[in-house]
Amino acid sequence: MGSFFITTAIDYVNGSPHLGHAYEKVLTDVIARFHRLRGDEVHFLTGTDEHGQKVQQSARLRGIPPQQFADEISAEFRGLLTALAITNDDFIRTTEERHRTVVRRLLQELFDRGEIYRGEYRGFYSTRQEQFLQEKDRLPDGSWPELYGEVTEVVEANYFFRLAKYQGWLVEFLTAHEDFIFPRYRQKQVLEFLKEPLNDLCISRPRDRLEWGIPLPFDEGYVTYVWFDALVNYYSAVADRPGVWPAAWHVIGKDILVPPHAVYWPIMLHALGLPLPHGIVAHGWWLQSGAKMSKSAGNALNPLALVTEFGADAFRYFLVREMNVGQDSEFSRELFLSRYTSDLANDLGNLVNRTLNMTNRFAAGQIPPAGVAEEPETELQALWAATSADFMPLCEGFQFHTALDRLFTFIRAINAYIERRAPWKLGKSAAVEDQARLRTSLATMAEALRLAANALRPVMPGTAARIEEVLGRTAGAGESWSGQFVWGGSLAGARVAASLVLFPKPAP
Ligand code: MSP
Repeated sequence: MGSFFITTAIDYVNGSPHLGHAYEKVLTDVIARFHRLRGDEVHFLTGTDEHGQKVQQSARLRGIPPQQFADEISAEFRGLLTALAITNDDFIRTTEERHRTVVRRLLQELFDRGEIYRGEYRGFYSTRQEQFLQEKDRLPDGSWPELYGEVTEVVEANYFFRLAKYQGWLVEFLTAHEDFIFPRYRQKQVLEFLKEPLNDLCISRPRDRLEWGIPLPFDEGYVTYVWFDALVNYYSAVADRPGVWPAAWHVIGKDILVPPHAVYWPIMLHALGLPLPHGIVAHGWWLQSGAKMSKSAGNALNPLALVTEFGADAFRYFLVREMNVGQDSEFSRELFLSRYTSDLANDLGNLVNRTLNMTNRFAAGQIPPAGVAEEPETELQALWAATSADFMPLCEGFQFHTALDRLFTFIRAINAYIERRAPWKLGKSAAVEDQARLRTSLATMAEALRLAANALRPVMPGTAARIEEVLGRTAGAGESWSGQFVWGGSLAGARVAASLVLFPKPAP
C-alpha cells in the first residue's frame, strides 16, 4: 500500500465549466479510483484558480465584488464534481487563507535567498484590455488589432524569479527522467523548447493595475502574477499534511504543459528545495468540428446537460472510451449516441437483461452452480484470462480506452456465448446432460458478467454496483479488488433481481 497524491489543474473561474473541464476531472477520478481499489492511500485534489485580470474584469462588468463572482463560479465547478461522481478528497480555492499563507511564505523564502529580484519590465500594454501584449498578438503587417485600442510601450519596475539560471539543471533532469511527462513525445517537445534560452519570469504586477491577487510579502505594492499563485496550489493544499507531498501525478491539458507545468513548476520546486512530483499527465483537447472547445471560441458544451439526460456513468464511459490520453478527440452528439446505443444499451444492457431473465425463467431466480466445462465455457474463460491479464497494466499506463475496448470485446463474447448455448433450447430438453448444460450456461453468464462489472468499477462505479446488486452478490469482507478478477463460483446460490434497466432508449 503506497501513498498516491493526484491533482487536476485548477479551473479559472472566469466562465462556467465545459466538457474539457469535465473530462479532466473524470480522467483523474478514474486514475484515483483505480489506485484506491488497488489498495493505495489516495489523496485526490482539485479546485479553482480565482485571481487575475479576467476575474477582476468579469466581476466589474457585473458590478459585484470579485470574491462574490469567484464564489458563484467556484460553486458551479463543485456542483459539476458531484454530478460526475468525482471522489476528490479536497477542493482548494486560491482565495483561501491556507493558500495565501503558503504562497507568501514561499515567495519570501525565495526573495531572502536572492532567487527573486527587482528589475525592469518592458512590454507593450493595451489600456483598453488592461493587459500586456506579446509579439504574437500583432497583425501580419506589424500593427496591433483594433480590439486593443491604443497600445503603448511601458517600462515598469517588477519582480523577477531567476528561471534562466536553472535551465541547465532542468535539461539534465528531464534527460535523466524520461518518463516525467506522459505521453513521452510531449517530453521531447519540452526539451525542444529548452533549446532556446529561458528568460527570468516576471512574477508581479503593480497593485494599482491589478488589485485582485496575493500581495507580495516583501512589497505590498505588488500582487503575484498568475502562475506563481496558481501552481503553488498543489503544494499549499497539503503543506500541513506530512507525508502527502510530492504528488504522484499532475493531470493537466496540453495547453498548460509548456512552459508552466514542465518548466516553471519544476524549477520553482527545485529552487525551494522541495521534491518534484513523480510526473505530469498531459491530455489532449476535446474538439468540435476540429476546433478546441473553449468558452472564448463559443463552442463550449455544457456537460451537465448530457449527464442529466444519460447519467454520470454513460458520460464517464464515453469520455474515457473515446479519448486516447494525450491525443485530441472529436465530440459530437452523434458519436455519443452511437457509443451509448451500441456499447451500453445493446452490449452491456442486454447482457444484464438476459442474465436476469433467464435465471428467473429457468432456475427460479437462483444462480445454479456450473456443472460442465465444454468448449464454449473454456473458450470464454480463456478470453477472460487474456483480457484480465492485460487490464491492470493497460490502466496503469493510462491506456484506459484500450482497456475498455478489450473489456467490451469480452462483454460481446458473453452475448455470443449465450447465443451459442441457447439456454431457451436447453430448457426444452429433459435430458440430464442438457439440464447440466443449462445450469452451466446460467452460471457462466452470471459469473462472466460479474467479472466485467467488477472491472468497470473505476469508470462506471454506479453501474458496476447495481449489476453486483442485482446478481445478489455481497463482496466478502477484506476481499481485494484484484482478487475479484479471478473466475470462480462465488455466485452459486445467489438470488437475482427480477429486472434492471440500465441504459434506457434516449427520447427521440
Ligand atoms: N487555471 C489554469 C490552470 C492552473 S493549474 C495550476 C487553467 N484553467 S482553465 O480553466 O483554462 O483550464 C483548466 C483545465 O481544463 C486545463 O488543464 C485545460 O487544459 C483543460 N481544458 C480546457 N479546455 C479543454 C478542452 N477543450 N479539452 C480538454 N481539456 C481542456 O488553464
